[in-house]
Amino acid sequence: MQERIRNFSIIAHVDHGKSTLADRILQMTKAVSDREMREQFLDSLELERERGITIKASAVRLFYQSKAGETYIFNLIDTPGHVDFGYEVSRALAAVEGVLLVVDASQGVEAQTIANFYLAMEHEHTIIPVINKIDLPGAQPLEVALEVEEVLGIPADECIFASGKTGQGVDEILEAIVARIPAPKGHPEHPLQALIFDSIFDAYQGVIPYVRVMDGSIQPGDRIRIWSTGKVFEVDKVGVFRPGALEPVARLGPGEVGWITAAIREIGDAQVGDTITLAQNPCDAPYPGFQPAKPVVFAGLYPTDTQDYNRLREALEKLKLNDAALSFEPETSEALGFGFRCGFLGLLHAEIVQERLEREFDLDLISTAPSVIYRVKLTNGEEIEIHNPSELPNPDKIEAIYEPYVKLTVYTPEEYVGSIMQLLQEKRGKMGNMHYVGKRVEMVYEVPFGEILYDFHDRLKSLSRGYASMDYEQAGYQEGELVKVSILVNEEPVDALAFIAHKDKAYGIGREIVDKLAEVIPRQQFAVPIQAAIGGKIIARATVKALRKDVLAKCYGGDITRKKKLLEKQKEGKKRMKAIGKVDVPQEAFLAVLSAG
Ligand code: GTP
Repeated sequence: MQERIRNFSIIAHVDHGKSTLADRILQMTKAVSDREMREQFLDSLELERERGITIKASAVRLFYQSKAGETYIFNLIDTPGHVDFGYEVSRALAAVEGVLLVVDASQGVEAQTIANFYLAMEHEHTIIPVINKIDLPGAQPLEVALEVEEVLGIPADECIFASGKTGQGVDEILEAIVARIPAPKGHPEHPLQALIFDSIFDAYQGVIPYVRVMDGSIQPGDRIRIWSTGKVFEVDKVGVFRPGALEPVARLGPGEVGWITAAIREIGDAQVGDTITLAQNPCDAPYPGFQPAKPVVFAGLYPTDTQDYNRLREALEKLKLNDAALSFEPETSEALGFGFRCGFLGLLHAEIVQERLEREFDLDLISTAPSVIYRVKLTNGEEIEIHNPSELPNPDKIEAIYEPYVKLTVYTPEEYVGSIMQLLQEKRGKMGNMHYVGKRVEMVYEVPFGEILYDFHDRLKSLSRGYASMDYEQAGYQEGELVKVSILVNEEPVDALAFIAHKDKAYGIGREIVDKLAEVIPRQQFAVPIQAAIGGKIIARATVKALRKDVLAKCYGGDITRKKKLLEKQKEGKKRMKAIGKVDVPQEAFLAVLSAG
């Protein structure tokens, strides 16, 4: 049975056409009829579809009849395409034996092509290089195949030229999956060892872990144990993935990919990367490499309408059922009232959560600027973690502050190296090494995570005219000379606007923020001073001038519709404001720090 199974993933740099190719494979294996075929079948969340990115790994089982006339089971496991979700990619890869490494024929090898290639190598996977989008007028398939050989060491003649769009070359890919990717090698007689590579929450069935059975087998009625928690559950159903449906089967054997229901109520009991075994006859060790999902970026989320606090809590609880990486705890801000401090895997994850809260739960939210986690050693010897800049203790209580660093890899044509080095210097990056990889230069730096969180990627793209690409991984903590900058609106410190910055940059950022705030805070009946301060010392100041006329004064009497329009506009603007003292402060203001520095 196992010799007819092929488990594989598709990996690629963002936008190189992974989803489009997956769709085409589904269509060509008749998993979906042409009529049913809608674009990007595997990306099931509405949001994913709209943003055109993959945020949740998912799987599908296909049947393929080879040219030699034999039928194979293909399990295609989809991987998320963004660096925020790197851990999920590594777990998805643990569930397969081979990958299609997709490279855009007009773009060539990019940072994530290389990062994903190394991940696949770590798992000792078979790698099938696919030079994709060969239908594009700017495609240079042969050059890119040579680049793949030079940079990744995969012989150019192993590359398959294809187009997910036209379907050209896809039959060759399907044959290569059969011929090149090995069948799984699980032991049917060993105790069950199943790796959780994803999970979803269903209102009726609870948490449904998606598993790859490594050894042994699992069937309804089995009592299973979750390795990291030791909790035991009774299996209700097991099954496989069919396009758009979970199809029950009698059992899942070694090498198979499928799902389990066992009345698991909490997502924490079936976390991605954990191992499932049998309670009575457990395996010796878990599948290696499990790490519980760990948020690295924190932000405050507050309802614009204080009445919505409970609805926000319920919505977060619901989202959390489906998203083990999301964390939240109640937080009170003097400025914003009652809300939650939420932890995310990265900025994209934060944006997605906020968007889902607003769209699916109809909430109107104010979010504070996302911040990294600082570690602080106090003079009394205690060590604390700071998830919210306003909580940083006074300097006289602090012995040292440590900030998180990432190992950043930038991959660029040579001509942009100079300006990228300058950018990285500005971001306090420390150069690791730099060398040629094919026609491009690979630059490796250690950079404070907080410095690249906001606009770094955009700036990298714009100064390299879109040619440079990047990838990063967390790289531990280092001591930094950091200070807390408080922002005062109308002489009152606003806790939700406080931020932490390097001491040499605090003045510049403080200046930019007060200017930005003076711009976005609407005029009031009185002049409003905006100040930035370190400790008791004011380092920058700006003023929102007093309002001269009210908004209707402009329309001398007559024009009713224009009046209505103006009032309407004013109302809309108000929607997302928070009154701080006597001053209305719009959402933009709370994110002003994102565009500074
Ligand atoms: P992420 O999920 O964000 O990583 O992106 P992806 O790699 O899945 O890329 P996707 O399939 O969404 O394709 C990115 C863009 O390239 C889309 O605009 C596609 O229409 C286009 N595209 C994908 N494959 C082809 C192809 O073979 N030829 C051409 N001309 N365009 C393609």
